[in-house]
Amino acid sequence: MKPEPSPAGSESEIQLLAALSELMGTSMAFEEVIAAAMRFTSAMMGADGSSLLLVNRKEGGLSFYIALGEKAGQLKSMTLARGEGIAGLVAESGIPVVVSDVRREARFSKRVDQVTGFKTGSIACVPLRIRDELKGVIEVVSKRVGTFSDKDLDMLTAIAGPVAVMIENARLIDEVKGLHEKLEKAGRVKAEFLATMTHELRTPINIVIGNLDILLGGFLGEVNDRQKDSLKTALRNSGEALNLIGSLLDLSRIEAGQVVIRVEEFRLEDIWKELELLFRIGLSGKQVDLVWEAREPLPLLKTDKIKVKEILSNVVFNAVKFTDRGRIRVCASPAGGGEEVELVVEDTGVGIPKEFLPFLFEPFRQAEGALTRSHGGVGLGLSIAKRLVNLLHGRIEVESEVGKGSTFRLTIPAKYAA
Ligand SMILES: Nc1ncnc2c1ncn2[C@@H]1O[C@H](COP(=O)(O)OP(=O)(O)OP(=O)(O)O)[C@@H](O)[C@H]1O
Ligand SMILES: [Mg+2]
Repeated sequence: MKPEPSPAGSESEIQLLAALSELMGTSMAFEEVIAAAMRFTSAMMGADGSSLLLVNRKEGGLSFYIALGEKAGQLKSMTLARGEGIAGLVAESGIPVVVSDVRREARFSKRVDQVTGFKTGSIACVPLRIRDELKGVIEVVSKRVGTFSDKDLDMLTAIAGPVAVMIENARLIDEVKGLHEKLEKAGRVKAEFLATMTHELRTPINIVIGNLDILLGGFLGEVNDRQKDSLKTALRNSGEALNLIGSLLDLSRIEAGQVVIRVEEFRLEDIWKELELLFRIGLSGKQVDLVWEAREPLPLLKTDKIKVKEILSNVVFNAVKFTDRGRIRVCASPAGGGEEVELVVEDTGVGIPKEFLPFLFEPFRQAEGALTRSHGGVGLGLSIAKRLVNLLHGRIEVESEVGKGSTFRLTIPAKYAA
């Protein structure tokens, strides 16, 4: 007999679901929520024990995931074969089953009772389903025969839905976590490897450059003109390789999270003064005006000067490289009520095709194909600039039209806040 008369079917289901949703709102681990829901349900049904079994993906058998009641602890390591017992039947057919008297049911498997020493009289079992896939079953057992009715089956079915969702969510979260950890580890290893390799490569290249300089300077004996030309070519190429390694090192350090922010006070004009000559050298031989404009009052900056300088130089060097005539205008102005500075770099160069804009800030991406490329560089400048801007909590935006020119808009907080 049941401990108390069961309330009318739908009412008890509502009561059950209300209790379950309350449990789900607590900070309890989801296994505890499910176990509590099962305890509650089996008490309402007058059962002696309950278990939740999940389908093994590989063999299709059922493993005990939660087992509650007398001697249930021994079930933890037990697995039912595909189709074994009432649980197996329900997992295969997807149809809820009540067995009033197990002695009269040929599909009942005695194996579980043999393991636990429990004497099953009757069983109610419902499938756990996510969309159309059977994930497992919930089973309640009683020592007595005739304990469960169809109403009890409805109650069990009512909790099966939310329980299946909780289990699936937990599985998905585990899967995503595992994936994230793997990706993070792979990314970290790669970035650290790159940071070390590029650092190590700089030393030999610097030695090559030093030796070429010594040869070219005639310190080891007279060098004829043809030898000089050859040495100069070697020197130029070594310099380019060094730049490339420097950029790779910057990028991989940022990716490896090895970049330190050093805050100092400075003015944007200071940076401009330090860079302007280099830009002018880059423009020599081209008919391009280089204009600097500052709209006062420009705030005093308290952020990482070296990084702002690298950002600006990457963006302006692109303008220098991709503009053959016209004007490059760099305009600095206060923004965000003086909390930010805005730097607009505007050129009248070749422009950037619309379809390339989404990839502009990705490493090694260049609008010109490798075979048609007429400008130097490897495609790292803007990806570094973007990452540095992010580190300083700023923004970088671009507008461009092929044949007309490009405008890069940088916004950086005047004071760096960690
Ligand atoms: N001002 C610009 N005008 C036209 N195209 C540009 C401009 N700035 C960037 N681009 C396009 O974006 C690509 C990527 O720029 P990025 O600075 O990342 O690489 P890069 O200049 O080719 O090489 P690196 O900067 O590593 O020397 C360039 O190759 C070019 O196609
Ligand atoms: Mg560049």
